[in-house]
Amino acid sequence: MPRPPLIRKDPAGFRVAPNLPDTDAARAAFSWDSARAGLQGLPGGGLNIAHEAVDRHAHGPRANHVALRWLPVAGAARDITYAQLARDSNRFANVLRGLGVVKGDAVFVLCGRIPQLYAAVLGALKCGAVVSPMFSAFGPEPLKTRVNLGAGKVLVTTDALYARRVKKVEAEMPTLRHVLRVDDPETRGLLEGAPESFTVERTGAEDPAFLHFTSGTTGMPKGAVHVHGAVAAHYATGRFALDLHPEDVFWCTADPGWITGTSYGIVAPLAHGVTSIVDEAEFDAERWYRNLQDQGVTVWYTAPTAIRLLMKAGADIARKYRFPKLRFVASVGEPLNPEAVWWGQEVLGLPIHDNWWQTETGGIMIANTAAMDVKPGSMGKPLPGIEARIVHRREGGLDVVDAPDTEGELVLRAGWPSMFRGYLGQEERYRKCFAGDWYLTGDLARRDADGYFWFVGRADDVIKSAGHLIGPFEVESALMEHPAVAEAGVIGKPDPVVGEVVKAFVSLKAGFAPGEELRMQLLAHARKRLGAAVAPKEIAFAEALPRTRSGKIMRRLLKARELGLPEGDLSTLEGPA
Ligand code: WT7
Repeated sequence: MPRPPLIRKDPAGFRVAPNLPDTDAARAAFSWDSARAGLQGLPGGGLNIAHEAVDRHAHGPRANHVALRWLPVAGAARDITYAQLARDSNRFANVLRGLGVVKGDAVFVLCGRIPQLYAAVLGALKCGAVVSPMFSAFGPEPLKTRVNLGAGKVLVTTDALYARRVKKVEAEMPTLRHVLRVDDPETRGLLEGAPESFTVERTGAEDPAFLHFTSGTTGMPKGAVHVHGAVAAHYATGRFALDLHPEDVFWCTADPGWITGTSYGIVAPLAHGVTSIVDEAEFDAERWYRNLQDQGVTVWYTAPTAIRLLMKAGADIARKYRFPKLRFVASVGEPLNPEAVWWGQEVLGLPIHDNWWQTETGGIMIANTAAMDVKPGSMGKPLPGIEARIVHRREGGLDVVDAPDTEGELVLRAGWPSMFRGYLGQEERYRKCFAGDWYLTGDLARRDADGYFWFVGRADDVIKSAGHLIGPFEVESALMEHPAVAEAGVIGKPDPVVGEVVKAFVSLKAGFAPGEELRMQLLAHARKRLGAAVAPKEIAFAEALPRTRSGKIMRRLLKARELGLPEGDLSTLEGPA
């Protein structure tokens, strides 16, 4: 039976009144100043994310409300109240201060999803440090590159991750003064002995708070700088796009090593004073359904790749569980196929609400909100405070596309609070992201006659695997370290589950011959250097790689050949194709 193009919302069916009953009306009435009025500000002036997220609740009526419910890989859940989280983060702030961390210093955090991660991030923010949470599956190379780009002064990690990922490259990170291993007896002693009160550094709205790395097609990863003022957007979008209400139990499945897990796994839910689920374990269909059911999750924020895995696990598993408390489900990271929206409707009893944003935007920009009718396959409408357009670039400017259903580049009017304020050390690259008042997203999209936006594709060839961006350059560099490899070209190959898998083409140095054994060696080498999340899953040997005359590997061509697609313009190709 063909499915209708629209899932209608019946206002009588809402269990709680949506925060945004009418997106279009709210957009017309909205101002960022009024959104900022929902924040408290530091006593005596200033703005600090950690104060808005934790301290204001710890000193108010929600002090004993559960902030984080931690589900360890094995064993019983642990509840951490706002009052406790305030004390834990204060201890961390005191320890960091004791190590000489001052306003503006960079603190990197490489931990699994454990309570100390949250205390460390919030403690570092209280110190006025710029925090860079690292994905714990990063291998030594990506870690080293980022710490060096960000001039990390302190790295917070665990004993196990230190041994596996840090030790080998510790000497190659010259700015690093301290490595704190949260579970080693000395650090535990330091933390336990530290005072449980701390006066939050007086940061202002424009002071940097987070450094989030994102990948480009060429060159080094880019460190997107975000400021304390971003909390106004995290708060507003938590309200509008995630429909957070005070008694919600919220579960954001993203790891804080990616910006979704920071903006919406830490800042937004805490700023709203709700209870967040933190699951230490990796994806497991049975466990996730159990979490949704047993923890009484009311609002769930996840990703298409996870939804596809649940779909793949089959309806039989899902049928063993009930989700009577679940009220709102949202997804981000990649296009959400209409089938996935419908799967939500059928298995969870609720459609999945797609939303769109980027590391650079810091928070959700375009969303299907709770009261909106859902058009499966559309990423929704711009939120209040966000002006989005479809444009065509031309010499010296932009042409705004007015006609509905016309493809073009998605641009946003600059100036929302969580907009990135720079790429660390790459001023030119930052400038190139803007044309006049508009931020250029690099994504292609179209808008329909009802104002819904539809994602078309990315303008470049960054690889999107399991909701994460992977820059080919980084993978190629790691492969090239192997003595047998002459050159490497890396592409994303469409995959029904994770979106794209990383595939590498390598040519070998003289004296080396392709073969199964070498392939296994290269796969293992890449895994060790890059971690499983970033390393290629497939490696193919090639005599030589196609390059442009200027020496750039033509990944676009590798990809076209791999997929049997038209090869396009080959005018810049070097030598015989
Ligand atoms: C890119 C951003 C995911 C948020 C934070 C990290 C793609 C994101 C959607 C969506 C289609 C999407 C875009 C975007 N993307 N959300 N709902 N539909 N594509 O984001 O790692 O900086 O990646 O992810 O291409 O530009 P990121």
